[in-house]
Amino acid sequence: MRILVTGGLGFIGSHTVVELLENNYEVVVIDNLYNSNLSVIDKIHKITGKEFSFYENDVCDEDALETIFSENKIDAVIHFAGYKAVGESVQKPIMYYENNLVSTLHLCKKMIEHNCFNLIFSSSATVYGNPEVLPITEECVVGGTTNPYGTTKLMIERILKDICISDNRFHVIALRYFNPIGAHESGLIGEVPNGIPNNLMPYIVRVASGELEILSVFGNDYDTPDGTGVRDYIHVVDLARGHLKALEKINDLQGIHYYNLGTGVGYSVLDLVRAFEEVNGVSVPYKIVERREGDIASCYADPTKALQELGWKAEKTLEDMMRDSYQFILEEKNRE
Ligand code: WQD
Repeated sequence: MRILVTGGLGFIGSHTVVELLENNYEVVVIDNLYNSNLSVIDKIHKITGKEFSFYENDVCDEDALETIFSENKIDAVIHFAGYKAVGESVQKPIMYYENNLVSTLHLCKKMIEHNCFNLIFSSSATVYGNPEVLPITEECVVGGTTNPYGTTKLMIERILKDICISDNRFHVIALRYFNPIGAHESGLIGEVPNGIPNNLMPYIVRVASGELEILSVFGNDYDTPDGTGVRDYIHVVDLARGHLKALEKINDLQGIHYYNLGTGVGYSVLDLVRAFEEVNGVSVPYKIVERREGDIASCYADPTKALQELGWKAEKTLEDMMRDSYQFILEEKNRE
């Protein structure tokens, strides 16, 4: 099977391309390099020993999509491409709505023109907003998103549902990621945020490596065991493998189906700091500051449905996530 991976040089995209190649899929990647780098192509080759087709284009560009679908018989699409920085989305809503929605609409139009109806969409646990119940199941109410980024994910899920209602040839799987962290065990690919990291894990690794001075812990007065925010951190390789499980099942599933990709275990900010220090034998100095606007206290998945219907379960441990995250940043610094 030949899979088109949009945003395939990005953090989750690149790890998924590695898993696809290692499982003998043919891969075509489109990426505009807004949040990735051409060097990832060679790193993927080093890991897998395999080649794939790459198009440096924007998914909003219909002519580029026409070229890709005309030159390649695409059997399924995994759609990662999109802007994903929560804080940036609050500052630049038009950029986020235009890019994330238009790219998806153009992609779906092109898929129909070329008789390709299998789509796996990179969704997010943010579609649940501030969860009313925990752990979160796919039957939980969606909505109440607190930023344009999360709202684009919610809107795209709705768009894809309407497309499936209008055209029963479509098979769509929306994978709702919890908090992806970690890196490939080779140390060659991982998370490389633009500028100062907004997310916790990239910040911790940069404090530990001496690049940043101290971690600010956004509040310790939440209704959680130690007062700091609790999240469901999932190793990016486990997440990537979830996409392959979805690919294996997509032909059996008509219409749109939603799956939480999380471990089902919540860890606090201070849990992560402690685990990171223990696993890597380093110190992560931190200070407690005020809460970050828009943050919720706790969010973690009930991943039962993905196990029952896709046969997928996260296997990597918190220690794996801590070790692989740090190894990647150290190897990146050596490559500079
Ligand atoms: C985790 C915890 C913070 C940074 C975001 C996106 C979500 C998804 C995953 C794409 C929270 C605390 C953080 C810091 C801190 N991305 N924190 N100091 O906000 O759960 O989710 O990434 O789908 O869409 O919203 O992740 O890593 O930013 O925060 O104390 O410097 O760490 O308060 O409790 P979040 P995060």
